[in-house]
Amino acid sequence: MKLDKVNWENYYDKIKGRSPRPLLRAALELEKETSRPNGRFAIDLGCGDGTDTLFLLENGWQVLAIDAEPVALERLLAQVPTDLTKNLQTEVAQFEQLTLPPAQLIHASLSLPFCHPDSFPSLWQKIEASLVENGRFAGNLFGVNDSWAVNAHMNFHTKQSVEALFANFAIDYFDEEDKPGRSTAGSKHWHIFTIIARKMSDSSN
Ligand SMILES: C[S@@+](CC[C@H](N)C(=O)[O-])C[C@H]1O[C@@H](n2cnc3c(N)ncnc32)[C@H](O)[C@@H]1O
Repeated sequence: MKLDKVNWENYYDKIKGRSPRPLLRAALELEKETSRPNGRFAIDLGCGDGTDTLFLLENGWQVLAIDAEPVALERLLAQVPTDLTKNLQTEVAQFEQLTLPPAQLIHASLSLPFCHPDSFPSLWQKIEASLVENGRFAGNLFGVNDSWAVNAHMNFHTKQSVEALFANFAIDYFDEEDKPGRSTAGSKHWHIFTIIARKMSDSSN
């Protein structure tokens, strides 16, 4: 299925009222057991409608929410209670041109596949460099069997190439789904990796 011009606002409308992603909930459960003497600063990469950023704020995190769509950040800001706004920074930016500050957690649900494949290696380098030692990544990547793999402006991976990205990480959770299903755009074949992992050392910096 071709996704030349995604109307993201339409997508945010379709998922309005959703719960925080189970992936983020699982990562925050693991974080409860993780000592963070230097604070809890998270980046929500491709934050979309803002549900997960809000959940991070409600769980005591400082958050930088990034998305290419200004309307995503407008929707997020409209939901954040005044007493939590001091813990939130927002940035309109493309994955292809990001700079990322040091972070204890990077959450990227259903967003990284939309980075142009030419820019993905540099984006991944920035993600790895941004994570402090023992910092955690929680996010999705799409596999080569996904029905959206016909879109040359998106990036797709084999299991081996995903594993290679996490060579310097301790894996908390790794799941691969390769099966028919549905998206807000209709029926599709999902080939999706869901990963939670901790960066082992700062050798990438
Ligand atoms: C499928 S949505 C996921 C949103 C949210 N993380 C969630 O779980 O619902 C993908 C998000 O990535 C953003 N996005 C797509 N391409 C992007 C790019 N090249 N740079 C930055 N953000 C991008 C979109 O605006 C959209 O909000």
